[in-house]
Amino acid sequence: MEPLTAHPIEALTGSARVPGDKSISHRALMLAALAIGESEIHGLLEGEDVLRTAAAMRALGAKIVRGPDGIWHAWGRGLGGLCEPDGVLDLGNSGTGARLLMGLLAGHPVTAVMTGDESLRSRPMARVIAPLEQLGARFVARDGGRLPLTVVGTADPQPIRYELPVASAQVKSAVLLAGLAAPGETTVVERAPTRDHTERMLRHLGADLRVSTEDGGARSVTLVGQPELAAGRIRIPADPSSAAFAAVAAAVLPGSQLRLDGVGTNPLRAGLYTTLQEMGAGITFENRREESDEPVADLVIRGSELQGVDVPAGRAPTMIDEYPILAVAAACARGRTVMPGLGELRVKESDRLAALTRGLTACGVEVEAGPDSLSVQGRGGRPPGGGTVATQLDHRIAMAFLVLGLAAERPVTVDDSAPIATSFPGFQALMADLGARFSATRDSP
Ligand code: S3P
Repeated sequence: MEPLTAHPIEALTGSARVPGDKSISHRALMLAALAIGESEIHGLLEGEDVLRTAAAMRALGAKIVRGPDGIWHAWGRGLGGLCEPDGVLDLGNSGTGARLLMGLLAGHPVTAVMTGDESLRSRPMARVIAPLEQLGARFVARDGGRLPLTVVGTADPQPIRYELPVASAQVKSAVLLAGLAAPGETTVVERAPTRDHTERMLRHLGADLRVSTEDGGARSVTLVGQPELAAGRIRIPADPSSAAFAAVAAAVLPGSQLRLDGVGTNPLRAGLYTTLQEMGAGITFENRREESDEPVADLVIRGSELQGVDVPAGRAPTMIDEYPILAVAAACARGRTVMPGLGELRVKESDRLAALTRGLTACGVEVEAGPDSLSVQGRGGRPPGGGTVATQLDHRIAMAFLVLGLAAERPVTVDDSAPIATSFPGFQALMADLGARFSATRDSP
């Protein structure tokens, strides 16, 4: 356990580039391992989650090395070319690593055993197992479809059409990655569109993939199986979910002036920024551009006073990882912020609705959680703070409450800052460069 305390500051100022996008980094390593030839990956997130995926892909036969200049090089095995690992694949804390890998393995004739840390071992995998069994793979998992589990992939995967019962980009991606090995067309239908990084990267590497809107408005993604994936150059934008912590700290501290370079602005990830603008935050997007088929911009954030808002439930899939930090913004705003449609937060790295309720209460913030909703009452300006918050192996809970400590009247302590390294290595140093104050104990640094 590595406790860390954040101390109140006046403003966050300067410019920075947060590390690479976690979702896109996992996909880059996995798809580069299926391409033929050498891929170059620029801006890969070197967080623990992604390093676990790199280790897993190496165990499956891909050659992956980091150059001294920080550029990663991967030599793929070609579609169908992954080999059986001779040890257990340990995905650490990463739901994305585990679920996407289950999809990839399902379409290969290999048997693999997968596990993860205490948090990952408690998370539901049945949602991925169900469609992958339809495709022909078999699984032996713990009760409730939990890790550790064994995947028995199939030599003869069948293309399927699958309607997602939950809004989950991980489930969608697992089916598409398995469908790569199947002859014919694999289709995934989603009622609520989720992040489309897998679709964009498959296209970037040359796969034939169609997206259409069905009667009734559902989004349908169809992949033509057995493509030849072309190795090439992949540029990974800065992670909008990591940028969110600095962005909210700047947005709620009047006097702040912050620039965040090269942040991904994929509309299926941008819900937090829309919501912050509705709350009155001064956020602008400059130098909009595209990198490797993903939209990117520089974010400029000026501190101001925020107002509480009602966040539409339908927006949740586009900001599903940002509710912890939005709840902190809400605690600093004037009035009530109501956040419905959050059932999925119960099965993230921790039960985030429970963790937020406990943490905000410990920091003197009025909060109410329902089975799938959260409501936070802000009094305008600094919330009391002063609490100690249990991280529960959840990086985003740790970072969100540290931001609360910067913007509160009194310091806030998280009992364990170690999980931050899963998605945002260097968080403390980057934030400190912008004016944040942290200490390993409660005393002033
Ligand atoms: C992710 C999808 C989301 C998100 C996770 C990353 C992805 O999970 O919470 O952090 O990379 O596909 P779900 O698919 O469970 O919603």
